[in-house]
Amino acid sequence: MERENFGSRLGFILVSAGCAVGLGNVWKFPYICGENGGAAFILIYLCCLLLLGLPVIICEYALGRGSRRTITKAFDELQPKGSKWSRLKWPGFIGNYVLIMFYTMVAGWMLYYAYLMISGKFVNAGVNEVQHMFSNMLADPVTLFFWTAVVIVLSLGVCSLGLKNGVERVTKVMMILLITLMVVLGVRALTLSGAEEGLKFYLVPDFKKMTEYGIGSVVFEAMSHAFFTLSVGMGAMEIFGSYMKKERKLVGEAVSVLCLDTFVALMAGIIILPSCFAYGIKPDAGPSLLFVTLPNVFNHMPAGRVWGSCFFIFMSFAALSTVIAVFENIVMMLQDGLDWSRSKAVKVNIIAVAILSLPAILGFNVLAGFEPLGSGTNIMDLEDFIVSYNILPLGSLMCVLFCTRKNGWGWDAFCAEANTGKGISLPNAVRGYMTYVVPSIIVVIYLKGYYDMFAPKGTKSLIIWMIVAVAIIVGLMSIVFGKTRVKEKEVVTLED
Ligand code: PFF
Repeated sequence: MERENFGSRLGFILVSAGCAVGLGNVWKFPYICGENGGAAFILIYLCCLLLLGLPVIICEYALGRGSRRTITKAFDELQPKGSKWSRLKWPGFIGNYVLIMFYTMVAGWMLYYAYLMISGKFVNAGVNEVQHMFSNMLADPVTLFFWTAVVIVLSLGVCSLGLKNGVERVTKVMMILLITLMVVLGVRALTLSGAEEGLKFYLVPDFKKMTEYGIGSVVFEAMSHAFFTLSVGMGAMEIFGSYMKKERKLVGEAVSVLCLDTFVALMAGIIILPSCFAYGIKPDAGPSLLFVTLPNVFNHMPAGRVWGSCFFIFMSFAALSTVIAVFENIVMMLQDGLDWSRSKAVKVNIIAVAILSLPAILGFNVLAGFEPLGSGTNIMDLEDFIVSYNILPLGSLMCVLFCTRKNGWGWDAFCAEANTGKGISLPNAVRGYMTYVVPSIIVVIYLKGYYDMFAPKGTKSLIIWMIVAVAIIVGLMSIVFGKTRVKEKEVVTLED
């Protein structure tokens, strides 16, 4: 079947940025920034984006454009005969499902809050009432399931219309509205009296707070978040490379998407943090920052209902653009891998994802007693841990290794693909950096992050998790070095 291409370059950039811009930017980034010392964290995060995220996103686009397939087939298309790289499709395939198992639920929270704001449910609500509304929502599996189902049906509905008529058309409109709303909300936040305090917290680094938290964890958090926000490591960006024409070199396209994504994350902080300070509310509430802290902030504001509605509509667009992109990837993975039609993949996934979203939903109520990662954690945290702290960094590692190693796709072929078309070239000078330095940094930060994360939980837990981390890395390396042995055997056979 003929593969569709994007209708325009703007379409590619906005859909790709739509996949990157999501809950990671507007929900996770402001709160992990609040928890990890504000500006100090941002500095490290920006370094991770440029030094690690950018090379990986270029590799993903090249992989997609070079193979014109999703990751279920891309490695098979490009790998030398007899190598084992194609096994990497499995973590990628599973990762997309694990992500969507909790992501659709949180996207549902955004839609629900947009509905609550628009219908005036927060008007005159006191601090306790706002807190209760959030806890009541989490305690009620039916409400959670309803809004998750709305997200699933809407997003898969868009995918069922095809790439150009559905995904590209709808995402383009949503992204343009999102950017407009964001600028309006940003100007509003900055003109609140008392906003300077918040800006100071956001823009002046506090390295002391960071060292208290453990530098290893902070850097691990920053790296993992860089991969999460760029959606790299499990083929979600790769698919948009596969829809791209060969008119532009990939560095420029990757930089545009990275800049747009970073701009939205920084703006989300600018909208949220100064507003908190302006009303004397601390921004370190963690995940509930958006759902408890902010409705209180809007309640203090003149015309708060209007601003609150705009804010949660903005959040909903960010979340939906990502869910649509991930579903497009899932639908196409099934088309590529199992030869399913688009409409069959859409129908099956409506049911499948609705069922798969249940553990995360029930983790907040019926299964709240199950605390998989220690006290206070829930099933969503476990799913997030699997994807954000494992599949994405390690998938990114493997993607770079595949593109740069001789027994994978190889630097020359990769570089030729990245440099096809007009625009900025990927210089040969970065070959050593991408082949050796990027993979080494990822492995070191990954292991150090595991160490710092589990060391405070006791020696036993540390030993278990470090063994898990090392075993995963060794397993992956067996794929990387597997082909060498095949080659040796071939040589022996020829000589015989
Ligand atoms: N980049 C998305 C966000 O910031 O919310 C999350 C994400 C989407 C991560 C797709 C990974 C992925 F493959």
